[in-house]
Amino acid sequence: MLTLGIETSCDETALALVDEGKVKAQVLASQVELHSLFGGVVPEIASRAHLEVLPALFNKLLTKLELAPENIEGIAVTRGPGLLASLLIGLGFAKGLSLALDKPLIGIDHLQAHLLAIELEEKIDFPCLGLLVSGGHTHLYLMESWQDFRLLGRTLDDALGEAFDKVAKMLNLPYPGGVFLDKLARGGRVSKELFPRPYIDNTNLDFSFSGIKTAVANYLQKNPHLIFEKWEKDFDLIKVGQEVKDMCASLTYSLVEALKIKINRALLKCQVKGLVLAGGVAANSILRSSLADFLEEKGLKFWVPSKGLCTDNALMVAYLGEKLLKEGYRHSLKLEAIPRGRPIPRDYTRIS
Ligand code: KG4
Ligand code: ZN
Repeated sequence: MLTLGIETSCDETALALVDEGKVKAQVLASQVELHSLFGGVVPEIASRAHLEVLPALFNKLLTKLELAPENIEGIAVTRGPGLLASLLIGLGFAKGLSLALDKPLIGIDHLQAHLLAIELEEKIDFPCLGLLVSGGHTHLYLMESWQDFRLLGRTLDDALGEAFDKVAKMLNLPYPGGVFLDKLARGGRVSKELFPRPYIDNTNLDFSFSGIKTAVANYLQKNPHLIFEKWEKDFDLIKVGQEVKDMCASLTYSLVEALKIKINRALLKCQVKGLVLAGGVAANSILRSSLADFLEEKGLKFWVPSKGLCTDNALMVAYLGEKLLKEGYRHSLKLEAIPRGRPIPRDYTRIS
């Protein structure tokens, strides 16, 4: 069932087509340059940019595959969580298409889509754990099936990606800084005691990253020479001083160790086949390799999508959309956008 996926929940405008669980094509317009000036996503600018680029992206996608709009058999759109005004642009576009083409519509939970994105590359064996780490979320789930997720733990303050981005900002790196910290950390040596492993002296499965952010701020106050004066676009990372790289490596180590401690606790509670790592921070090379080793030692499977499927994309939206539509689930044109912080209702109807 040729399904169109529409993703506009934050600062990426993306459209993709998936057919029978396989990638057909994706077109994507990143707004990173627009927001980097402000050091974070500006909601008003984000929604305007989505509105501007969507029609041209749609034509580009169809031209790429030499398809007509009528060839599309289903329409899937991210309905939340995300920035409300940005979600509404995607929803408006999806509803217009659904009405004009007389094709079924389904609203997608962005978090569920992230966790299932790996299935475009490899099937998950359920039950498994799901660790979703992005700019807005750090959630640990027990995934019983592709539709049944139980939240085991979540961040009490900043999301992991937010912590990376805030530290990057302290260093004067451009937004979003997670990817720069990753590159710097790869060339660094770890001092295990430099930063605390955050929020581990408890028995729960929650996370907290605001304390480690403060620890980095204090460290930088004592070592102001580590802060970049100015970041040039084509800055040569190889030339960056060893001390900054060591700091990034030590920070990443502490964060990853804290995640592993909580995963270990979850493994003691739940019988699972492995773990799915998802969301933008799942693109982090140290997190990927460290978790791969950790799970291999335990004889468990590790599913992590290729990097392009970790960050926001429309392929994951189309993939989940096709699955739901094929099961007979439908949304009406009353489909609502759900902002961050509110649970996503399963308010679709099912045709027989
Ligand atoms: O899933 P995503 O694209 O958007 C949200 O739904 O939030 O995640 C974006 C987050 C940002 O915080 C970004 O800095 C982080 O993912 N990120 C990374 C890497 N690539 C993206 N963090 C660490 N290492 C990376 N390689
Ligand atoms: Zn996301």
